[in-house]
Amino acid sequence: MNESTKITGREFRQALGTFATGVTVVTTTDSNGLPRGFTANSFTSVSLEPPLILVCLASDAATCPVFTDSGFFNVNVLAENQQDVASIFASPGDKRFDKVTWSIGENGRPILDDTISRFECQTSEVYEAGDHVILLGRVTDYNFSSRSPLVYCRGSYVEFGLLQRAMEAASSGRLTRISAIVDCGGSILLAKDEASKTLALPSAPHVGVAEEDESLIGKLAASGVEVETTFVCSVYEDTATKTNNIVYRGIATKVDKAAIHDYDLVALDDIPWDQLCDDPLRMLLTRYIEETEVDAFGVYVGDNVHGEVHKLRARS
Ligand SMILES: Cc1cc2nc3c(=O)[nH]c(=O)nc-3n(C[C@H](O)[C@H](O)[C@H](O)COP(=O)(O)O)c2cc1C
Repeated sequence: MNESTKITGREFRQALGTFATGVTVVTTTDSNGLPRGFTANSFTSVSLEPPLILVCLASDAATCPVFTDSGFFNVNVLAENQQDVASIFASPGDKRFDKVTWSIGENGRPILDDTISRFECQTSEVYEAGDHVILLGRVTDYNFSSRSPLVYCRGSYVEFGLLQRAMEAASSGRLTRISAIVDCGGSILLAKDEASKTLALPSAPHVGVAEEDESLIGKLAASGVEVETTFVCSVYEDTATKTNNIVYRGIATKVDKAAIHDYDLVALDDIPWDQLCDDPLRMLLTRYIEETEVDAFGVYVGDNVHGEVHKLRARS
């Protein structure tokens, strides 16, 4: 078997993107004494004794020769509110350090302010590995804090604290309703309530699996729809019913249209807005349609009246 014909760049990237990582900015200084850095999620711990870490850097990156020659580098682990910093150091331009606050570390290389941890390194080895180089660093100094990390998964940044909020809401002992916007390729599923003649998202007390009849995934499976849940898109308390709501974004992997019952398959450009069950759903679907167009999603956190959308910026 010829592996190169089987493994295609885009799909291989997508597969690798399922591995959730933190996000770092790796920094050093060039031969003119100027600070240089790039965003990296390939940071990995290697050894405790001696203390070694590694980072992989694309051989064709502008900063590659600088890092392979510098002798020292620093790994700055970003906090959840530092998406901007990640974007700055992943975008072309030589003015990256003008847009952040930083200082010089013990090893004479730049360190960024307000990160959750930092590893100062002396370059131990540089290995060529395919189209990347592996920078193996011996850690000479480090610090860390208890703040929440920025997380990267499937091409999007995820705020770790939001996931904690979602989990806290789910385990608070209050009535919890899990629902999902199920993307069926341009259409979504809406559940019909015959009594009130309104439409709502498919929902259940927990996410579950296909074999559990009372779970969200089980109810959808019984209706011929196989779903993978991806990100949480809303966590809010319905103050009227005292219900915690967690809304997922789901992607239908199989839809048996003939088997669908209890749900309507509704095109995104043909949503019967006046038949939706409440305002939070109208707001949620309005945001979902806007976000789908630009492929950049956010998470709403709040209650049914007040709240905030935290943007999950997709990698540019
Ligand atoms: C979340 C994220 C993680 C990244 N991880 C890496 C990485 O581990 N190695 C790498 O070479 N590039 C990585 N990149 C891409 C570089 O940050 C980007 O190509 C950058 O512009 C390189 O800078 P340079 O061309 O000035 O060297 C990542 C980008 C993002 C957004």
